[in-house]
Amino acid sequence: MAVFVFKKMTSTNAEAKNPCYAHGDVVVALEQTAGRGQRGNKWDSAAGQNLTLSLIWKPDFLPAKEQFLLSEAVALALVDTLAQYKVEATIKWTNDIYVGDDKVCGVLIEHDLGAEGKLARTIVGIGLNINQKEFAEWVPNPTSLALLTGSEHNINEVFEKLYDSLEARYKMLKSEPERLQADYHSHLYRLASEHTYKLPSGEEFVATLEGVKPSGELALRHKADGQLHHYLFKEVEFVIAQRGR
Ligand code: BTN
Repeated sequence: MAVFVFKKMTSTNAEAKNPCYAHGDVVVALEQTAGRGQRGNKWDSAAGQNLTLSLIWKPDFLPAKEQFLLSEAVALALVDTLAQYKVEATIKWTNDIYVGDDKVCGVLIEHDLGAEGKLARTIVGIGLNINQKEFAEWVPNPTSLALLTGSEHNINEVFEKLYDSLEARYKMLKSEPERLQADYHSHLYRLASEHTYKLPSGEEFVATLEGVKPSGELALRHKADGQLHHYLFKEVEFVIAQRGR
């Protein structure tokens, strides 16, 4: 494993696509000029205040249809890291990290397929807010480790804890995938409670989150018909009240 630190770059996920990187390597940027988020969003992070990195994994043992285990491992590693700072975080499906209704970390995972339906490479892009206290107006409900704990933190120290947690959860993925899935389930944001969700059409409905299938589909029991419905990423979104600031 090697860590490559860049002062400034467009996006660590873009850089991590370079075939020179090996399994376990990490690309870190002190500043990203075009940080990418999920659903085509931008990722906003003040220079030098947070962790913006991409980890390269080569999970060539894992069938592509089991790729959601990697999302689970990453999300749990982030929860584990924050727990070391006494911050109790939850996982907003698929792998946003929330404390209450505030987002402390975003994850952008990109896979490359290999031979025989296996995964050749996974780029795990992580944006973990650490010391930033003010965010752009358009960022919905942001928070940071400093805001949550009331003090600033050494970014390298957080990185080391995160890297160790990622390694531990990756090992668990190989040896005890059922336990990984169970841990993911128990840390889900809004698990077993009734909330509002939104379809891409804009239509809203009330449902109870019952879990996530091993394929990664979200299981919501609709209040209106009492039935369990399954959703792929981008087929549904959580409705979360925006905090004024
Ligand atoms: C999201 O919540 O929308 C995902 C955000 C992911 C941001 C990280 S920052 C490091 C890596 N490089 C990127 O361009 N994006 C990810």
